[in-house]
Amino acid sequence: MNQQPECRTGDVLVIGCGIAGGTAAIKLADAGLKVMVLAHGQNINESNTFYAQGGIIYRGENDSIECLSNDLFHAGAKLNYPAAVRIFAEQGPQLVVDFLVKRIGVEFDRDATGNLECIKEAAHSSARIVHATDITGKAIQSSLGIQLLKHPNIDILSNHTAIDLLTPAHHSLDRLAVYESNSCIGAYALDNENNEVIRCIAKKVVLATGGLGQIFLNTSNPAGARGDGLAMANRSGARIVNSEYIQFHPTTFYHKHAPRFLISEAVRGAGATLINENGEAFMEKYSQKWKDLAPRDVVARSIHTEMIRLSTPNVYLDLSSYISSAKIEKKFPSIFANCIKYGIDIRKTPVPVTPAAHYNCGGVLVDEWGSTTIQNLYVVGEVACTGLHGANRLGSSSLLEGLVWGARAAENIAQSIPGDEIPASNKIPRWQALGHEQPDPVLISQDMDSIRNIMWNYVGLVRTTVRLERAVRELRHLESEIERFYRVSSLTDELIGLRNAIRTASVVTTAAQQNKVSLGCHYRES
Ligand code: SIN
Repeated sequence: MNQQPECRTGDVLVIGCGIAGGTAAIKLADAGLKVMVLAHGQNINESNTFYAQGGIIYRGENDSIECLSNDLFHAGAKLNYPAAVRIFAEQGPQLVVDFLVKRIGVEFDRDATGNLECIKEAAHSSARIVHATDITGKAIQSSLGIQLLKHPNIDILSNHTAIDLLTPAHHSLDRLAVYESNSCIGAYALDNENNEVIRCIAKKVVLATGGLGQIFLNTSNPAGARGDGLAMANRSGARIVNSEYIQFHPTTFYHKHAPRFLISEAVRGAGATLINENGEAFMEKYSQKWKDLAPRDVVARSIHTEMIRLSTPNVYLDLSSYISSAKIEKKFPSIFANCIKYGIDIRKTPVPVTPAAHYNCGGVLVDEWGSTTIQNLYVVGEVACTGLHGANRLGSSSLLEGLVWGARAAENIAQSIPGDEIPASNKIPRWQALGHEQPDPVLISQDMDSIRNIMWNYVGLVRTTVRLERAVRELRHLESEIERFYRVSSLTDELIGLRNAIRTASVVTTAAQQNKVSLGCHYRES
């Protein structure tokens, strides 16, 4: 690989190293390709995957491809793309064993006979979720991180923020490139350590930057989930679909001084029950058949209705009446420890919970191989829309989707990558700094707060025409301010994130405004 500091090259550039990007990178490197991986954090394990608690879909007893497919269609309100559902149900469970267990050595919990222990979660008709207590994502990410760091074919650029995808139609010095079909040959990225922008140039690019929960006031997502990838793909002209389907997790910890960390669905899977301020179990009223294990959109809206009815900022999840203290400590050690930090002992008292933005069921439209409407650009993981989730995602499907499409994108790239030279870097200009003023952190945090409040109040769990129209107008104004701010300032990670957050918020809001039909997690009162 050419290692000039300002221009890095490789066969493939992978942006992001959670389960989707990490799987793609390892499989590509195993196939003998030279892979550059851009990691946002200094620590490459800082990804959405790291924070996933519940688990990953595997294969339950008496389970079948049809049974899993039906559960996906039921949760997704039948808006799911059947071809994606088939691939996922046919290939996913085997990849858990072949890649996660055998190739990278993830240690999932096992039963007394040594088999992978499968548990049940909401809206699953079979106990088919494998896990590593309540830190499954951490177990997967740690194993991925070890393999990524030691692979001789992988060059990791940590603490780098991708700024924009490199598309010759937009960036080439050759002005005639505008007549070629839109293709991607890399990305500009900010090296946060020395504040320099580099060009990363490759034959193929895999975008795997994760989600966007941070554009909402309340979210289960970590700080990096600002919609960076969605915004970059949007600016490059990629087709984006289903962005109105933002899934709100029903149960995140509610405490004035705590971030909204997740109280996994696995807790309800183990028997915990939702109760309101008056101590009444209420889910049967909203879903006679599934009760507390109804699909997430149903549970989240039921909680919302109870909170409004009783004018309370939260409801409660009662574990202690249904699950023994010993089991709580054994199965949910991290949830237990997190709640204790804020004075709630879940072995004795119900835990206060509230819904929060959790997952984008839409994203950059991709085919069965993760390939997009832009040549040589693949998108995998949460930033992609394979169509698997339809209008609402089935719990514990996201890690597996990232695994399946990460692996498939790698397979497709390895088969199709041209043997010839990496695209010529002299056709793409070095980064031209736009402005030089140090960006005011007060403006950045105020703008970010404005985006989060608009999205939470107007584009949240329950939407109306008037709220959505107001959101479109306010975001439009904010975006023109932020764009101006971006152009006069020197680049920082926070400023890049702010620009991406406002673009992503606009994409989500426009999609929500244009879709007049309530379905799954896009719910309109008018
Ligand atoms: C959870 O554990 O409830 C979240 C897992 C997921 O979103 O799939």
